[in-house]
Amino acid sequence: MTGVTHNILEVDKLITSFETDRGLLRAVDQVSFVVPEGKTVGIVGESGCGKSVTAMSIVRLLPQPAGKILGGRVMFKGRDLVHASDAEIRRIRGGEIGVIFQEPMSALNPVHRIGRQVAEVFRIHRKITKKDAWDAATEMLKLVRIPAPEMRMMDYPHHLSGGMRQRIVIALALACRPSLVIADEPTTALDVTVQAQILDLMARLQSEMKMSIILITHDLGVIAETCDEVVVMYGGRVVERAGAEELFAHPLHAYTRGLLHSIPTLEKPPKSILSTIPGMVASLADHVHGCRFCQRMGRSSGITRDRPGFAEVSPGHWVETCPECYQP
Ligand SMILES: Nc1ncnc2c1ncn2[C@@H]1O[C@H](COP(=O)(O)OP(=O)(O)O)[C@@H](O)[C@H]1O
Ligand SMILES: [Mg+2]
Repeated sequence: MTGVTHNILEVDKLITSFETDRGLLRAVDQVSFVVPEGKTVGIVGESGCGKSVTAMSIVRLLPQPAGKILGGRVMFKGRDLVHASDAEIRRIRGGEIGVIFQEPMSALNPVHRIGRQVAEVFRIHRKITKKDAWDAATEMLKLVRIPAPEMRMMDYPHHLSGGMRQRIVIALALACRPSLVIADEPTTALDVTVQAQILDLMARLQSEMKMSIILITHDLGVIAETCDEVVVMYGGRVVERAGAEELFAHPLHAYTRGLLHSIPTLEKPPKSILSTIPGMVASLADHVHGCRFCQRMGRSSGITRDRPGFAEVSPGHWVETCPECYQP
């Protein structure tokens, strides 16, 4: 035993832009983070911070033709996905990397039975017979704890509840035993008890299948319960990154502290993030050279200064070192 952890994914200075009527919008602005093998990395930040665009960039599912990766690397098991061929990325997506999005209905085809949709993933990625694919799909529904899977195979998506549909989407994402799963707000559309069941299911499948997970959420409570490491995004950038315990115990960036103050507890009624962090999420259209969070707080230094550095201030703990927002 050497105790060395390998990173299954390394995102390095990723830049993704959208061509819009108002000019080039930089939705992901030099984002860097890593995903260690077998671990869950949470990406957190308010809506519009660039979390989904980061996820879509990794698997090259950006809306076309507006979305483009303009720089950086996405190293997955030693291969750069930014420059992989379309054929290779299609093989990796759904095969070695499973993707789960927020709204289960958008991942399912309303006119096909559940069984056919799950079996199809096996047919595409593993050239097996129809019968074997059907059996594998039934097994998969069992794995995601769907009661009476043989019967559910004959249902159409609209027959199922939101929670059951999200289990099907998880089954689709995990069918080929991916080594990395990217889950973008997988429980946001579900009510709280179902949300807990789905997160619990994902954690159990992760230990059974030994996969790594990127879990995207705007909810630090979800992060606290599920993640080993946390990446905090603001304005298309990573402002802080650390092990989960470390981040909750010693948040160093003003934005992270603001997010932490907005977590509801039993003693404290829920507050919206906007009530604790004043101002609005930055518009990504106007490119800012300085610190984006200073800009939000109305500090002129946010515009005049150079972009703050991103430094490892203690082992594994990275923070954007803006003189105003970095508070050791
Ligand atoms: N198809 C698109 N065209 C133009 N801009 C987009 C598109 N999709 C996302 N964006 C912009 O990219 C930014 C980041 O969005 P997103 O990654 O979806 O945020 P999050 O997932 O953190 O809520 C937002 O400013 C959003 O308006
Ligand atoms: Mg999103």
